[in-house]
Amino acid sequence: MSRSIKIFDTTLRDGEQSPGCSMNLKEKIEVAKQLEALKVDVIEAGFAIASPGDLASIKAIAAEIKDSTICSLARTAKGDIDAAYEAIKNAASPRIHTFIATSPVHMEHKLRMTPDEVVERAVAMVSYAKKYVSDIEFSAEDACRSDLDFLVRIIEQVIKAGATTINIPDTVGYITPPEMFNIISHIKNNVPGIENIVLSTHCHNDLGMAVANSLAAVSAGADQIECTINGIGERAGNTSLEEVVMALKTRKDFYEAATNIDTHSIYRSSRLIQTITGVPVAPTKAIVGANAFAHESGIHQHGMLSNRTTYEIMTPESVGIPSTTMVLGKHSGRHAFEDRINALGYSLSKEDLDIAFKKFKILADKKKLIKDMDIESIILKDTEIEDKKLELESFVINTGNDITSTSVIKLKVSGKSIEKVSTGDGPINASYKSINKISGLAIELVDYSLHALTDGEDAQAEAIVKIKIGEGGDVITGRGVSTDVVEASIKAYVNGINKYYAA
Ligand code: KIV
Ligand code: ZN
Repeated sequence: MSRSIKIFDTTLRDGEQSPGCSMNLKEKIEVAKQLEALKVDVIEAGFAIASPGDLASIKAIAAEIKDSTICSLARTAKGDIDAAYEAIKNAASPRIHTFIATSPVHMEHKLRMTPDEVVERAVAMVSYAKKYVSDIEFSAEDACRSDLDFLVRIIEQVIKAGATTINIPDTVGYITPPEMFNIISHIKNNVPGIENIVLSTHCHNDLGMAVANSLAAVSAGADQIECTINGIGERAGNTSLEEVVMALKTRKDFYEAATNIDTHSIYRSSRLIQTITGVPVAPTKAIVGANAFAHESGIHQHGMLSNRTTYEIMTPESVGIPSTTMVLGKHSGRHAFEDRINALGYSLSKEDLDIAFKKFKILADKKKLIKDMDIESIILKDTEIEDKKLELESFVINTGNDITSTSVIKLKVSGKSIEKVSTGDGPINASYKSINKISGLAIELVDYSLHALTDGEDAQAEAIVKIKIGEGGDVITGRGVSTDVVEASIKAYVNGINKYYAA
């Protein structure tokens, strides 16, 4: 009989707070819906006290999601807990997640509190949160560098105060798997009442051991794993959801534990996070990297042809990577297009399908073969902002290796055409200067990347820009796709500015 392991996803909190991964409200809701489709047990939707925007987005997610518990992080402080409750109170299944540090270094240098004061505060705030909701998670921040006897003491007290889940974070990614096994075993063997509590782990990946440590925690009896899609998160990131889930599934014989995750939705979830954040995964990334299921060596290919299990421990289909790479073209009909969309794991409303099919036909006129990545670029809706303030009408570029590039850009701004010309260091720099003139905004280009979505000469280019607008503005990700690299770059920049207006 296998044990059931809860998956607590913190992509929208620990993941989103890492540099370059911020998302707007619409994107957060889209991610939350995808996490619900993935069947995660708990969605940590944000840190309500962090900003009014965070609170509003948790609230919106709480109103939308029905099948996963929705949780907000809160320090052990009344203001934090009040904000967390305000954010999650309308969720079908609400949780408050409160934390305080328990390691000597954090208590002395960060909190400037004695261990007794930390216990007192934790107990008081768990009781305070309990007045609002019954589902309370308590995290002992930096637990893995804490004194074990102190951990046992504080956990026992917060359970008495009403905590229903106890989380053991490796906040700084310091622990090793055998040590994690010992910590979890020690807590299981020494905390009275722990048998009625969900024991959780939350690992960071500073030494590349977050997944291994989470699995060691499961072996020692942990019931919940905290993780993020693609492993995004503070510094080196968090435990990667796709890796830990597929490890439990593929090695069920060893772990004797299962999750509720619909693994067929993993690939799509990973693509969504890559598209929204503009942070790609490495080709060699386990489970979702472009090479994760590619067999290059002749010996391996030969083995695979005789029997897939010679070199394949899990199938690409099991994580939602489509089995065939069927290619569409301009003669493909709506039916074939819809079939392919469904095979990729998407299901569109009739209106969205109409829009996507029109875009498909336009692309098919430019490009002979339409591949899966092209279809995804058409249907991933995060680039679509209703009521776009800026729209590209036309651009003319004059460039060369021994002349200064010139770009004439015409944008529709709230329905009115405005054209500006600029020179610059290459066609993209010149174009961005023209757009800056048109928008009148102080825009800082923080990062720019360009890559081909598919192979072949007529591949579509995907440009990702990270921009900051105004003093102290947040980093905004813009994305543009086109068969023309300059057009993709202009669209990405315009998309970033539209997101700024839409926020
Ligand atoms: O890494 C950490 O300790 C955290 C806690 C707030 C759970 O993110
Ligand atoms: Zn963390």
